[in-house]
Amino acid sequence: MQNNVLILDFGSQYTQLIARRVRELNIYSEIKPYNNPPKDLSSYKAVILSGSPHSVRGDNPPHPDLSEIKGKKPLLGVCYGAQYLAHFHGGEVGQSNTREYGRANLSMVKEGEPFLEGVSSNSQVWMSHSDTIKQLPEGAVRIASTHDVENAGYRIEGEDTYAIQFHPEVYHSTDGKKILENFLVKIAGVAQTWTPDAFVETTVADLKSKIGDDRVILGLSGGVDSTVAATLLHKAIGENLHCIFVNNGLLRKNEYTDVLKQYEGLGLNVKGVDASARFLDALEGESDPEAKRKAIGRVFVEVFDDESKLVENATWLAQGTIYPDVIESVSATGGPSATIKSHHNVGGLPDYMKLKVVEPLRMIFKDEVRRVGASMGLSAELLGRHPFPGPGLAIRILGDITPEKVRILQEVDHIFINGLREWGLYDKVWQAGAMLLPVNSVGVMGDERTYEKCVALRAVESTDGMTADWVHLPYEFMQKVSNDIINKVKGVNRVVYDISSKPPATIEWE
Ligand code: XMP
Repeated sequence: MQNNVLILDFGSQYTQLIARRVRELNIYSEIKPYNNPPKDLSSYKAVILSGSPHSVRGDNPPHPDLSEIKGKKPLLGVCYGAQYLAHFHGGEVGQSNTREYGRANLSMVKEGEPFLEGVSSNSQVWMSHSDTIKQLPEGAVRIASTHDVENAGYRIEGEDTYAIQFHPEVYHSTDGKKILENFLVKIAGVAQTWTPDAFVETTVADLKSKIGDDRVILGLSGGVDSTVAATLLHKAIGENLHCIFVNNGLLRKNEYTDVLKQYEGLGLNVKGVDASARFLDALEGESDPEAKRKAIGRVFVEVFDDESKLVENATWLAQGTIYPDVIESVSATGGPSATIKSHHNVGGLPDYMKLKVVEPLRMIFKDEVRRVGASMGLSAELLGRHPFPGPGLAIRILGDITPEKVRILQEVDHIFINGLREWGLYDKVWQAGAMLLPVNSVGVMGDERTYEKCVALRAVESTDGMTADWVHLPYEFMQKVSNDIINKVKGVNRVVYDISSKPPATIEWE
């Protein structure tokens, strides 16, 4: 791939943000761990060094060999990257007198620097460091300062090497994207050709030549990733793509038929398999959360295996794996061991299936998946769907699962989600759902005493599900939804709202 940018990761919490910001400029970028950089650098037109939880003054700080990069390719050091370029090249890094976290404003921006063109002189920047650059390295020219950080930005004379103490990738750095654009486009001359349309075109061509006339099976979940992956494959190989959509009996109300209808509308070759009874049988009497998940995973593999055997000569398995699932992450301790997160949308298939794996989305982020989907004409409604866990309502029914409990929760969830849509709140929430608690409580309806189930509603905002906070839904909305649920769903007499953040709670209750 031409016009590629390499981001060397030193373990910062913001590294993925750098890649996303670069890609928002329509420039392709890849993250690689500092301790396992690519051997062949020829396709990279510029390199960015990320921040890090480490100090260059600590024991064994990240210290990769940059001899093939520094002075030879355009190079930008961010935070730790800037300190690294100073410390190992004749400068001095020490502890700052005050720990600097959060907003700051530039107080000096050197005139005439293409790197800082269009950056206002008091531009807000985001700081997150406890070390500071006390003395610049050899050949450096200071180009920016803040009130507390004299050496907030510098460049090296005679090289395309730049360094900034603040984080341009964080939204709070108001001119951050401009700075990245100046560096990549003006200084490094990278072309802005990475667009969703271009991605679709090259991916479809790659899939065609990789798969040829072979047959591919893909497990659709109704979610954004598997749907976009299927649409790309369908463009490439048409009817040779065989999609399987399994009803595990734990989907939302009407979801099985609605989603199948939606797929028909997209022209995909989809087979719906209603295996509800198989899943519910396997779950009978089981109340341990992990055992429930394992049972669902096992039955899914069995069902999927049975179904794929019906597709003659299938040689490939397609998955909707996305980039955050495959980035080699630098361990939190910064040790040399890099771990690779593995991800199996279909719950890990047995080896005997011997299928080759194709993952058309493995190099793109979730927001890019949506943009790619939009460029292929998928509806905003489909692309904006909330995430829904593979084990479905099973992990929202606390304790054992019965068909009656599934029915109750489907009704409650339906009222809640429809309510969010009707009140224009659905798109403001990252994920929402209801939990059926293993608790009965006393209530009164008419003149009758009731002793019925309690449900908890949960709505969170998040960017990736790793952290989340509860959403401040309007009281009037909660009042209406609570009334509707208690009046319409037989078996429920109490509704509560979950106001826990993640961490320490999780989004799902099991
Ligand atoms: P937690 O509960 O860990 O959930 O805060 C984070 C996000 O992951 C989803 N989730 C799952 N998705 N299979 C999935 O496909 C699972 O087993 C699973 N468990 C949790 C959850 O809905 C939330 O979006």
